[in-house]
Amino acid sequence: MTTTPDRTLALELVRTTEAAALAASRLAGRGDKNAADQLAVDGMRYVLDTVAMDGVVVIGEGEKDEAPMLYNGERVGNGEGPQVDIAVDPLEGTTLTAKGQPNALAVIAIAPRGSMFNPGPIVYMEKMAGGRDIADLLDLDRPVTETLGLIAERRQKPISDVLVITLDRPRHAEQIEAIREAGAKVRLITDGDVAGSLMAVMSDSPVDVLWGIGGTPEGVIAAAAVKCLGGTLIGRLYPRNEEERQAALDGGYDLDQQLTQDTLVRAEQCLFSATGVTDGELLQGVRRAPRGGATTESLVMRAGSDTIRRVHARHRPEKLEEMPGYGIS
Ligand code: FBP
Repeated sequence: MTTTPDRTLALELVRTTEAAALAASRLAGRGDKNAADQLAVDGMRYVLDTVAMDGVVVIGEGEKDEAPMLYNGERVGNGEGPQVDIAVDPLEGTTLTAKGQPNALAVIAIAPRGSMFNPGPIVYMEKMAGGRDIADLLDLDRPVTETLGLIAERRQKPISDVLVITLDRPRHAEQIEAIREAGAKVRLITDGDVAGSLMAVMSDSPVDVLWGIGGTPEGVIAAAAVKCLGGTLIGRLYPRNEEERQAALDGGYDLDQQLTQDTLVRAEQCLFSATGVTDGELLQGVRRAPRGGATTESLVMRAGSDTIRRVHARHRPEKLEEMPGYGIS
């Protein structure tokens, strides 16, 4: 049995994020993030077992008892294809969706069995992401402001033209102030650092670099995307308290190590798919057609081939009728 996810799987995979996005979008702007998340899970699960793979969820919705579907360790796929690890975030940006704000995505990443980093008990990670041309400059041991100076130099522009994207969180307040004092610009996002990482890595985006403390699972998923895009993402586990720190050490995690996209996903080959739930800078969200049916936009990528596909899909009303969440008006 092979563990190499091939190119045909990429096009099957997009159906899983389309289904999650189509389902979750029924509740976009309706103020209930948990219900939107559940619909996304139901939508993704509905399609996942038709995909030709023998998958194990490494990054999912949490522990089995608390997550009835897509829990860590769950077997998914039709069991017939390559043996793979799967990281899912059926709704990356639950609050963005509930509030009808931009950049909510449905995402999935797949890599050969045993190659994905398991974050264990560590919820947060300090991350930095950027394009290939600044890969050697990203270093979490150096003050962020110094790194921004080096990026400005490398990109031959004044530091006042360097744009950092970061989550708007009190834990970042001091660093944000320092970055602004150094003369760089900060784009604050309320949620969604997977989208933030992609923006930092894509060469046609105005964002130079992502910095900040965000979810570890999101870090692994973003690492797969970054591998496909050819950029860099580094991360260091960030325990929230002494208890988490001890649990990490007991589990054998190295809290000083700077993990790279190649240690977060230890394989040359991996696949990534994202579908827009709400409209955003990366992807258009789900659009309903007046007479039923809907359109989606997705980004499907495979590391190794470096091919990036944007998939615009039109979904027939009959197909949507069978999907979770269809009854919601
Ligand atoms: P959800 O979709 O689970 O709400 O996560 C959104 C998100 O903003 C991630 O993109 C990010 O990594 C994480 O939450 C940050 O966590 P926190 O909101 O606790 O700062």
